[in-house]
Amino acid sequence: MHLFKKKNWVVPKGQEPTEMDRKILFYQSKGHLVPRRGLILTPGQIDGIRKSGVINTACLDLVAENIKEGMTTNEIDKLAHDFIVKNGAIPACLGYNGYPKSVCVSINEEVCHGIPSDDIVLEEGDIVNVDITTILNGYYSDASRMFIIGKTSPEKEKLVRVAKECLEVGMKAAFPYCFVGDIGNAIQRHAHDNGYTVVRDLCGHGVGLKFHEDPEVEHYGRKGTGMLLVPGMVFTIEPMINMGDWRVFIDEDNGWTVVSDDELPSAQWEHTFVMTDNGLEILTY
Ligand code: MF3
Ligand code: CO
Ligand code: CO
Repeated sequence: MHLFKKKNWVVPKGQEPTEMDRKILFYQSKGHLVPRRGLILTPGQIDGIRKSGVINTACLDLVAENIKEGMTTNEIDKLAHDFIVKNGAIPACLGYNGYPKSVCVSINEEVCHGIPSDDIVLEEGDIVNVDITTILNGYYSDASRMFIIGKTSPEKEKLVRVAKECLEVGMKAAFPYCFVGDIGNAIQRHAHDNGYTVVRDLCGHGVGLKFHEDPEVEHYGRKGTGMLLVPGMVFTIEPMINMGDWRVFIDEDNGWTVVSDDELPSAQWEHTFVMTDNGLEILTY
C-alpha cells in the first residue's frame, strides 16, 4: 500500500497549458523528478528574498571587516546577531531545531555547524567558515564565506580557493530546465581535479519561504539526475570540500558540529540563488 502518492504536475482544469507546463509535463513523462507548484515562487516573493539577502550580505561584510586573530567565535555571533536584529530581521539559526546560537562558525577540520563559544579563539592560520541565514518579513536568505586568519599554509589557502571555485562552477553549470545532478557533477569534477573530495551527508536546499525545503542540492552526482530546475525556483548551493576523505562525523559533545573523519581541513562557500530564464542569479551578493 502507498501511504504517499508522488505529486504529479497537473495543469489546472479549464486552463491552457503554459510553455512551462508543457516542458515540466515532458520531463515528468520521461520519469524525471519535477518540482511541485509551491516551489516556483512569484516575482514578489523573490523580491522579498532579495531584500533579506541584502541584510544577510551586509552582515557577512561586517564579519569580514571585523574578524581577526584573538577574537572568540562568540564575538562573531554577537556582532552578527545584533546587526541582523538592528535591521529589523531575525537570525534564522537561533532556536532552529534547538540550535543555540545565531550563526555557525566552523574552523579548519569543522565542516559546518560550528557553535560559537567564548572558549574558541581564532588563531593565525585558521580557515573559518561563517554561515548566516536571515529572515526578513518572513523571507529567508542563506549564505556563507571562508575567512583566512592572518597567514595560512599554501595547502589551506588552495582549499579555500578551490571550494569557492566549486560554488562558481556549480552556478555556471545551471540553466533553466537543467537538473540538480548537472550542478553536483560539475562541482564534483572540479573538486576531484584538485585532489579534494565532496562531503555527501549534507547538501544545498530550497530556501526562501522556509529555511530548508526541496530540492535537495547534492554537490556530487550524475548529469541528468535529481530534480528538474525551472525559472522561479530558489535554492542554495553550498559545497563542503574536504582536503582528505569525504566522510564526516557529528561532534558528540554538542550534537551539531560536523567534522571531517580524518580531521583534515574542510572549506565551504554558500549563496542563495534564483533560477531565471538566463541561468542563476545570486540573491546574496
Ligand atoms: N545555514 C546552514 C545551511 O546552510 C544551516 C544551519 S542550521 C543551524 O543550511 F541550526 F545549524 F544553524
Ligand atoms: Co544552506
Ligand atoms: Co547556510
